Amino acid sequence: MSDDTHSRLELLEQNKMLIHELFQLEQDGHKDARELYHDEIAGFFIRTDDGSYTLTSDKRDSHDCETLHSKYGAFSESYEKFVKPSNLLEIANNKKSIRVLDICSGIGYNVTALLTYLKDEDVEIEIDMVESSIETLATSLFIPDVSKVYGYVKKEVESYLIEHGYLTFNKVLCNVPSNIHINIHVCDAREFIKNEANGKYDAVFLDPYSPSKSPELYTIDFFSRIKEFLEEYALILTYTAASPVRSALVHAGYQIGQGPSFHRSGGTIASLSEDMIATPLTFSDEKVIALSDVGVPYIDPDLNDDYETIINRRQSTRKKIRAVSVFPSSSKLPRYLGLDPETIEDEHLRDKLNSYVIKMGFESINDYRIHDILNVDADLSSSNQILALEDNLHRILG
Ligand SMILES: C[S@@+](CC[C@H](N)C(=O)[O-])C[C@H]1O[C@@H](n2cnc3c(N)ncnc32)[C@H](O)[C@@H]1O
Repeated sequence: MSDDTHSRLELLEQNKMLIHELFQLEQDGHKDARELYHDEIAGFFIRTDDGSYTLTSDKRDSHDCETLHSKYGAFSESYEKFVKPSNLLEIANNKKSIRVLDICSGIGYNVTALLTYLKDEDVEIEIDMVESSIETLATSLFIPDVSKVYGYVKKEVESYLIEHGYLTFNKVLCNVPSNIHINIHVCDAREFIKNEANGKYDAVFLDPYSPSKSPELYTIDFFSRIKEFLEEYALILTYTAASPVRSALVHAGYQIGQGPSFHRSGGTIASLSEDMIATPLTFSDEKVIALSDVGVPYIDPDLNDDYETIINRRQSTRKKIRAVSVFPSSSKLPRYLGLDPETIEDEHLRDKLNSYVIKMGFESINDYRIHDILNVDADLSSSNQILALEDNLHRILG
């Protein structure tokens, strides 16, 4: 796997450089290096609506920078989208020990929210934190405490940085309770899954940047490999509702449903077990994923392609099959399939939608063969409805 940092999106370059200056100063024996650098590093903090902080990513080609968390509340988002829907409280009540995989740990808010949530539980908690950016982990040492428990994460981060020669001095004054075991892995999450993961997890937090910027962690191949390390009842939780991500999960063999929403649109929950999915997707979302080019998933066969390769591969597949073997996603066409065109008041839109399907050999969006495609058993799970829609589409289009 290329270790070129461009293959991953990480922290703003200026933030990284400052952290490396700090490392050097501590390595040179300056006991007050952290105090000296505190204000300058704090200059990168962005206060979010619930008073917790976030940071910002570097640029990715023509894309804007992206914050690590929701601006509506970084810590609240961790609670609402990852921790509360994870079922880990119920699992902790029924087991002596739980294991969680935290992919893209960033500044450790998801882990802090989880440990805060489980603080009264009599259970052994083991968490594998996987984060590629050593600078992001180091920046967490400067972020104001969001909860008393944040000290545990900071203590473990500091110990890791000292053990690996980045820092020299023990400054975080906190004892981690003996039932909490945090393992820090600084590497590409694909590397962790290929070479380091073992045993079974009770839940996975999947929190990369958005799919168009960190596609390597949303591929069919990455999700397929994670399956080996999941308990049957475990959930994978992610904040994104993007169609290629949901499609990749379905094609990797997961059952999927909607995650809770927190200001931004709702996320996605996946499990090997159908019984664990509380809220199915809407049929409208299923149609977009199964029948249009937006549903083309990201692919990374050996889990080591770079960003451009993964993005370009999906783009070229979309181009090839769009309006040939899948419907184009333009003007939200998949959502209108099967409707009586006369019910669409906007005449221009109605003509446009019809013209897309006419080019593919149908008479209108209400063609009887389109109804055949949409005819799937409503009692099936969302994943199975998506697969059935795809089968119907391929059968009808030959
Ligand atoms: C949205 S932030 C995660 C925030 C984090 N979960 C928290 O609680 O603070 C995404 C993180 O993923 C890291 N990252 C990006 N690509 C990665 C990769 N391929 N493997 C592991 N970490 C990656 C970035 O450095 C960044 O810290």
